[in-house]
Order: sequence, then C-alpha cells, then structure tokens
Amino acid sequence: MTSPQASEDAEELLRIAVAAATEAARLLASWRGDERPEVVETKSSPTDIVTEMDRRSEALITSRIRAHRPGDAVLGEEGGQTAGGPVASDGGRPGRVRWIVDPLDGTVNYLYGLHDWAVSIAAEVDGTVVAGVVEVPRHGETFTAVAGQGAWLHRGEAKVALHCSSGVPLGQALVGTGFGYDEGRRRVQGEVIAALLPYVRDIRRGGSASVDLCSVAAGRLDGFYERGLNYWDFAAGGLIAREAGAMVGGLAGKTESTSMAVAAGPGLYQKLDTFLTRLNPERDARRSQERDA
Ligand code: IPD
Ligand code: CA
Ligand code: CA
Repeated sequence: MTSPQASEDAEELLRIAVAAATEAARLLASWRGDERPEVVETKSSPTDIVTEMDRRSEALITSRIRAHRPGDAVLGEEGGQTAGGPVASDGGRPGRVRWIVDPLDGTVNYLYGLHDWAVSIAAEVDGTVVAGVVEVPRHGETFTAVAGQGAWLHRGEAKVALHCSSGVPLGQALVGTGFGYDEGRRRVQGEVIAALLPYVRDIRRGGSASVDLCSVAAGRLDGFYERGLNYWDFAAGGLIAREAGAMVGGLAGKTESTSMAVAAGPGLYQKLDTFLTRLNPERDARRSQERDA
C-alpha cells in the first residue's frame, strides 16, 4: 500500500516527467522526415545508432528535470548516470530520487519514418519505480502510471484506465518481442521465436520496447518478452503494464532485468514463462565474421 505522502510525491514526479516527455516528443516530432536525421554514433553494433535527435531530446529532458529537482540523479541512455547537484531536492534526504530516461525509444523506427517510437521517463524513489510516462507522439497517446494508482491512456483531453487482457491461452495470444543489436544474440532470438511461432496466434515486432509494454497494458498485445533490454527501455513501460494488471518479471521466478523481461496478463504469463524457460533463451551464440559492416 502506498502511503499518502509517497503517493503525493509520486504524482508530483509524474507531472514533471509528463511535462518533460511532452516537450521532448514535440522536439522529436518537429523533424518532418524530409531527410533522415544524421546518425552521429553507433554503439554496440553498426545498426545500434544514435542520432543528433536522441542527444537533443535527452539534453532537454535532463535540463527540465534539473530545473525542478536539482538534487536528483538521472540515468539517461545517452549521458549515463549523472548525480544531482548539492541541493537535496526532497526534504533534505539526498539521493532518494533517480530518473530513468530513454530520450527516444525506437530510434530505427524514427529514422525510417515509422510511427512507433516514444519518449520514456520513469522516476524511482529509493530504488523503486513509482511513476512513469511513455509519450508516443505520432499516435497522439500518452501512457502514464503511478505505483498503486492504475495505468492511464491520455489522448488530448480524454483519459481512460488501462486493463491488460486476462486468461488468454497461449494458442490465442498475440505476443510482441524485440531483438537486440548483437548478431550472436539475434541468432538465439531467431531460434526462440521459430520455436514459439507455431504455438501462438502471431508475433509482432513493433520496434519500441516501451510502446510494446504499453500495448500489453492496453490489451493490444497479450504478452511481450525480450532478452537484453536496458533498464531505460522497460522502467516506465514495466510500471504501466503492471498497473494495468499485467504480470511483469523475468523467467522462472526472477524479476525483470537486462537479461530478460516478460509482461503478460495473468494466466498467459505462466504459460509463456514455462514455454520460454524450456528454450533457455538467456544465452548468446558466438558471432560469425561474415556480416557486412
Ligand atoms: C530499442 C527498442 C527496440 C528493442 C531494442 C532496444 P532504442 O531501443 O526498444 O524495440 O528491441 O532492444 O534497444 O535503441 O531504439 O532506444
Ligand atoms: Ca530504447
Ligand atoms: Ca533510445
């Protein structure tokens, strides 16, 4: 049960997150797509890209958070972890709040002019995510949650409570997933999906893990799993899915992690867990030398 004080704090954190995400999404959406934004860096592989817009979005979000809460830590995909300034922003107890930021989740979709990309911001208090927003500007949708208070979809002035699907048999399930950037990891991910595909309704690969998790929250997907996500990919979306009634975790009783994250409605989660665990999906194959740069 969330105490009234904690819930009030979490609501204030959500307000700050939503304002920053809205502004960042506006910045990202202001690029009209006449020309692709420039790829300024590659990370884990030649297809793991960073554009100038990822960086500008994160800089904007960090500056907005700092303007409200200068003492908080921020973990951003592009900037890493930065501690707050000397001012304790939350009642004299420095270090309680940390912000987890994916300034552009679904960069490849963004680069190709596809619509499933998002700004994802979560706020942790003492290591627990208490508020999260996933802003999906090309769909005009904002997904939010505060721990213990349900999950919500906002479209303009309208606000609806989110509920995941429940009791869907594996054979009827629409399951989302994603693939990492590393070739050896993808080989195993390909094996796993080939084994699962005959036993489910169908598979979707949306291209933005935070949007996928919100899709589970909204019942647009029955389940989702992905190996190798980063914390900023699932911190906000994981809370939103959970608050919409989904089970969110890892395999075989583990918590969700950068090794494996699974989200599904009650009933389906256990079926997916058993099926995936048998395939030993938390492993990577060796890379071949053949792939073109
Ligand atoms: C990626 C997306 C994608 C998932 C990858 C992530 P990025 O994030 O969420 O859906 O499959 O694992 O890295 O790189 O676009 O921020
Ligand atoms: Ca991401
Ligand atoms: Ca990103």
